[in-house]
Amino acid sequence: MDFMEFLKSRRSIRKYKEKPVEKEKIKKLIEAAVWAPNAENDQPWKFIVINDQHKMDLIQDVSVQGAADFFLAQKEHLQEKFKKLDLKRRKKLILGFTTGEFFAFINTAPVLIVVLADIKKTPYAVASASAACENMLLMSHRLGLGACWTVIGAVDKTNREKVKKIIGYDDPKWDVVAIVPVGYPDQDPSRKSRMRKPVEEAIDWQ
Ligand SMILES: Cc1cc2nc3c(=O)[nH]c(=O)nc-3n(C[C@H](O)[C@H](O)[C@H](O)COP(=O)(O)O)c2cc1C
Repeated sequence: MDFMEFLKSRRSIRKYKEKPVEKEKIKKLIEAAVWAPNAENDQPWKFIVINDQHKMDLIQDVSVQGAADFFLAQKEHLQEKFKKLDLKRRKKLILGFTTGEFFAFINTAPVLIVVLADIKKTPYAVASASAACENMLLMSHRLGLGACWTVIGAVDKTNREKVKKIIGYDDPKWDVVAIVPVGYPDQDPSRKSRMRKPVEEAIDWQ
């Protein structure tokens, strides 16, 4: 497949088959991640691979509550964002965001990967770990897996601290960059939603 087509066909996947993900494939995801560009080759990251359902449930609880708190605080912004939609659709979306229901898929994946950045090591830790996370998402797609970068539920530092505690990484040097459910997709990755604005709008030729 043409590389641009490949990039465009990667989509966030939020529904997964029950089929487990092979350990070899998970290792490949992390291998792709660590080959990301990273400031001064400091490699300021750690990838926590979670199969334990109880831990996944606990992380999801934090995320759902965190997302609900986050979106409830900006309900007016959501009203504005969705004002062009019909009332029924608008209500459904606002409810999904403000109850955190839209974020209740994390624990349905067979594997959850928490991407941590070592923020004491370098001021660029979050940027480097983010590059690694994107490599991981692209490799997931390449291997026929589906994944989704989630972190909105942990946007608040206290929630990120809760996630760190659940996985046993409560040292202050770590920060949570992404919580990535991974599994075999159970939805069409090439669906037409979430298209992009014309590229010209993003460019400023100088
Ligand atoms: C920093 C970041 C945080 C995100 N947080 C969430 C999240 O908490 N929950 C979620 O369902 N998707 C989350 N996403 C995925 C975006 O919603 C998604 O990438 C975007 O809508 C574009 O869709 P696509 O990935 O299918 O192209 C996040 C993506 C990024 C890069």
